Amino acid sequence: METHYRKKDLLGIEELSRGEIEHILEIAKSFREVNERAIKKVPTLRGKTIVSLFYEPSTRTKMSFEIAAKRLSADTYSISTTTSSMVKGETFLDTIKNLEAMKPDVFIIRHSQSGIPHRIASITPVSVINAGDGQHEHPSQALLDLLTVLDHRGSVEGLELLIVGDVLHSRVARSNIWAFTKMGAKVTLCGPPTLLPLNTLEKLFYGTQVKVTYDLDGAIPEADVLMVLRLQLERQKLSFFPSLREYSLLYGINSRRLQRAKKDLIVMHPGPINRGVELSSDVIDGARSVILDQVTNGVSVRMAILYILAQRGSEL
Ligand code: NCD
Repeated sequence: METHYRKKDLLGIEELSRGEIEHILEIAKSFREVNERAIKKVPTLRGKTIVSLFYEPSTRTKMSFEIAAKRLSADTYSISTTTSSMVKGETFLDTIKNLEAMKPDVFIIRHSQSGIPHRIASITPVSVINAGDGQHEHPSQALLDLLTVLDHRGSVEGLELLIVGDVLHSRVARSNIWAFTKMGAKVTLCGPPTLLPLNTLEKLFYGTQVKVTYDLDGAIPEADVLMVLRLQLERQKLSFFPSLREYSLLYGINSRRLQRAKKDLIVMHPGPINRGVELSSDVIDGARSVILDQVTNGVSVRMAILYILAQRGSEL
């Protein structure tokens, strides 16, 4: 089993070994201390060029990669749909080939179409990081989620992870199912049947030990970690449930629902949150919530990813 991360790109968790995941997390832990300093900067990636291409909205992921790159002294540049020549009809592959000609070291790509980062990675020698592709994967999010659980529980092995909500449209769920099962956790998915279709899930997660339940109140007492997903309203082309109010009544997480939970259950959410829909304010801001720890860990995890990929082939 590979125990060091030697791939050119970070495209998804599905293709990673447990050793590769642990290697990234170890490096992330070692960068933490930089983020606590008064002067939050080290020269590690001086002279490296990192280009972000975000073709979908993002607050946390984009900012977190940018802060991570700058704290490592890399030079960062970003373009988006509205400011690039794609509005003039240039294809994405041509855009990439032109940017590649300027000799960057890393591309960070978010795109609404699943598989785009993989396609780009196959045609360029530049390292590609998938910052979220359609409904497919969001590997840096799963890594920061793992780190957050490790911080709070010491180990992921044997833990019960309950993922609740819009699994169908969630790249965060997909990456986390791979990440947590590879690290030895047991994963249960819960949500309305329309957002948790068994035939699709079985095809996607064959070979993993993922359980599915539609009984949220029955599943909560078993859980060690509760990961709540955002309803991806922008991706829902059909009506998957009658109303937000009904969704919230049946699958929304609030403190009343958590009364039967284990005392040390932690609650996670990747953000952005539909406050009062999938999660109530008392839980978001309550003692079980580790949502902002996830955000803090995002910076260290992305420093580790950039460090590993950008210094490939160079002597430090
Ligand atoms: C997620 C995303 O964009 O995939 N957000 C994030 O990156 N933290 C989740 C979401 O949009 O619901």
